[in-house]
Amino acid sequence: MGNNLLKGKRGIIFGALDEKSIAWAVAERCHEEGAQIILTNAPVALRFGKIHELASKLNTEVIPADATKIEDLENLITESMEKLGGKIDFILHSIGMSLNVRKNREYTDLKHDWMLKTFDISAVSFHKVMQVAYKMDAINDWGSIVALTYMAAQRTFPEYNEMAESKALLESFARSFGYHFGTRNNVRVNTISQSPTKTTAGSGVKGFGTFFDFADKMSPLGNADTASCADYCVTLFSDLTRMVTMQNLFHDGGFSNMGINSAAMLGEIT
Ligand SMILES: NC(=O)c1ccc[n+]([C@@H]2O[C@H](COP(=O)([O-])OP(=O)(O)OC[C@H]3O[C@@H](n4cnc5c(N)ncnc54)[C@H](O)[C@@H]3O)[C@@H](O)[C@H]2O)c1
Repeated sequence: MGNNLLKGKRGIIFGALDEKSIAWAVAERCHEEGAQIILTNAPVALRFGKIHELASKLNTEVIPADATKIEDLENLITESMEKLGGKIDFILHSIGMSLNVRKNREYTDLKHDWMLKTFDISAVSFHKVMQVAYKMDAINDWGSIVALTYMAAQRTFPEYNEMAESKALLESFARSFGYHFGTRNNVRVNTISQSPTKTTAGSGVKGFGTFFDFADKMSPLGNADTASCADYCVTLFSDLTRMVTMQNLFHDGGFSNMGINSAAMLGEIT
């Protein structure tokens, strides 16, 4: 049940592929809280994903955009403002894809042209989205921009591969652009560092099931699921978090501050 936390706000949500996607849950929660939203994804994802199903459920529209293409982003922002009837209050960047992970390349044997493409899709796209919105002056004062990230930006998770560097870059863009957006019109920019979550992108990482279980057993609250991530996004889009910016916010049931727990001491975590 909603509390009208986002009543009157207009948002753009990138990355809802199917009902497992984090962006899918965020879109549903934002709608429930009274926001008007536009859904977007890469044209190829519109063909094999289920985004149109979500759009009809939420009575909204899908505007295709490859987030690596400036012209697609310009069109997305222009059309979104037209359809929503004004400037945008919030944006969710929920995009990730690694070519080397997809092709099972080991970290010590990466193809660097693929790595650059991975960075473009998973991190530089965040800068592109913000730069297009900034230049078009498309974000309302006190707006909020959020991207999803993972703790491999700070710590080593070997199988996360080149996505670790993508996330480090993504988090840095949030800090740097947060400065420019904040000083110009009080727009805040943050990243949410989410627990392992069973989605298409998440499950593509080698050994995902094992580190999902490990994090779940090691975290005092267990892994954060998509529904709780959606709740957290809503708070960041709402006016209740107006002074939070340039932060990487861990949403992981406490995992990031754990050393060892009693289950591990007793050998119950394998
Ligand atoms: N699943 C996890 O364990 C986990 C944990 C922490 C952070 N994240 C992050 O959450 C975000 C969402 O991923 P998810 O787990 O919901 O998986 P997902 O596969 O449902 O979503 C990834 C989305 O990226 C989109 N995308 C890929 N290339 C694109 C492009 N060029 N332009 C526009 N969109 C493009 C895909 O179509 C897809 O909708 C990603 O940034 C991911 O790294 C996921």
